[in-house]
Amino acid sequence: MGGLIATLTTIVTVGCDAPTRQLAPLETGDRGMVVSADPLASEAGVEMLRKGGNAIDAAVATTFAISVVEPFSAGIGGGGFLLAGFPDPAREDYQIQALDFRERAPKAASRDMYLDENGEVIERASLDGHLAAGVPGTVAGLFTVHKYYGQLPWETVVAPAIQLAETGFPVSEYFVRSLERRRDVITANPAARAIFTRDGQMYEPGEILIQADLADTLKTIAADPRSFYTGEIATAIAADMAENGGLITLADLEAYTPIWRNPLCGNFRQFQICAMPPPSSGGVHLLQILNLIEPYDLKSWGRQDPDTLHLLAESMRIAYADRAEYLGDPDFVAVPVRSLVSGGYADIRRSQIDRERATPSDEIPPAARDILNRHIWESPETSHLTVVDGDRNVVSLTFTVNGGFGAGVVAAGTGILLNNEMDDFSVAPGVPNLYGLVGGEANAIAPRKTPLSSMTPAIVTEGDRLIMAAGSPGGSTIITTVLQTVLNVLEFDMTVAEAVSEPRIHHQWLPDRLLVDSTTPPATVEALRRRGHEIVKRDGWGNVNAIVVTPDGQLQGAADPRRDGAAVGF
Ligand code: DON
Repeated sequence: MGGLIATLTTIVTVGCDAPTRQLAPLETGDRGMVVSADPLASEAGVEMLRKGGNAIDAAVATTFAISVVEPFSAGIGGGGFLLAGFPDPAREDYQIQALDFRERAPKAASRDMYLDENGEVIERASLDGHLAAGVPGTVAGLFTVHKYYGQLPWETVVAPAIQLAETGFPVSEYFVRSLERRRDVITANPAARAIFTRDGQMYEPGEILIQADLADTLKTIAADPRSFYTGEIATAIAADMAENGGLITLADLEAYTPIWRNPLCGNFRQFQICAMPPPSSGGVHLLQILNLIEPYDLKSWGRQDPDTLHLLAESMRIAYADRAEYLGDPDFVAVPVRSLVSGGYADIRRSQIDRERATPSDEIPPAARDILNRHIWESPETSHLTVVDGDRNVVSLTFTVNGGFGAGVVAAGTGILLNNEMDDFSVAPGVPNLYGLVGGEANAIAPRKTPLSSMTPAIVTEGDRLIMAAGSPGGSTIITTVLQTVLNVLEFDMTVAEAVSEPRIHHQWLPDRLLVDSTTPPATVEALRRRGHEIVKRDGWGNVNAIVVTPDGQLQGAADPRRDGAAVGF
């Protein structure tokens, strides 16, 4: 039985001039495993397994706990996606369910709501303050999945989060840095300022943060989760919105429903990969890129070989070009999912890849590239957690408030930090969002529509055998991060610890740049540059939390060494 992982990490030298990279510790367990972005949240999940709960109970407890200890990344004021898998030995299969509990646009939202009278984008209107928030889905999502599949009482799975909010927890360095980046908007909102600062002063790492209002709100949710949508919490959110120029009404909250969707599954080699369908773009493009690279023996080339990285980059470029054009909420626009993930389409697109040279993205219809170049990928918020229990039920869940500390505003009296998910819509055709992603008609704003996401919780199976589950934050980089983590295990035979630690690349069509982890060997970076890639080096992005089941049935988990997460085995 594993304990809480020490923060100790192994340093691996990868070349004389490149910075060193860290290798995540490998945690093992047989009866269960929780990997999340925070040790306290992972412990909350394992506590449920110890009490006899299943993977759903553990995932719900972990998600609530993350909402308390990582308010900058995800919470009950946001939304997300859950993929759950249940082994079905009779059919030699896994039953996979997908729940969409993402934010929806309020009824009063409109296509041009972030444009001024001249049609110009109002700077940061979709990012800061009440107008940036979509109707939150986390509480409804957790309650729904728990109602269907949970075993422990609802109050039991909410309890650890209440405790964390009430007695507090030491804030991390990352928490403080994230707060610093959002200082202006948070200090401008009295409710957020009262909670996340000491009368305007920033917290220091290690100081204890108590969230009394949030504790009360969570107690109300424990007693009656519907209160978030129809009761006193809903009333408080709607009142705060009305007072501050936000759009979310009581009617919007009452109308909110999570949606069970058919998971999007495809094959790679002998494996079945399942991920979220639209309104996430994650599943479509994960499968699309796997299709593009499938014929090649990447393993014989090597994970960090320039041939491998170039092929991956060019495949990513194609996928993200399609994302900008075709992806949106399937309840509002027709998304050609089947075509995009079909083998025939991959064959056509693969033939357009030059194996020696980077094809400039403007040879694929461009979208307002001048403004794109002003935007760079921002810091990774959002939170992913992966849980497997003794019966090998699995949950892969990614949720978010979008940017750091969401919209930077708290609904007064509730302690609930609100999301700025509206920025995931295309505020105008070709105008990039926080992550530099562009879109058009398919992802235009409409009342009650769901903004397009990149979140990619994934589950990999082979018949009735669970192979792995993983996911990550990182905005636009989520899809390529999950892709490479999956490939590291399936194609490159890495352990889960190696898989989450391995340097990554990212290309998203526009801006036309290849993001390269700064620990990538200089010779490899040079080789990619010679092929025509404009290289941007970054110190590492994403925060993968993954579990792999070894051929002898053992659970192995690892949290991304780039951040503060922990795998806890049971
Ligand atoms: O749904 C999405 O794709 C984004 N709202 C996720 C945001 C995220 O990962 C934040 N980190 N950079």
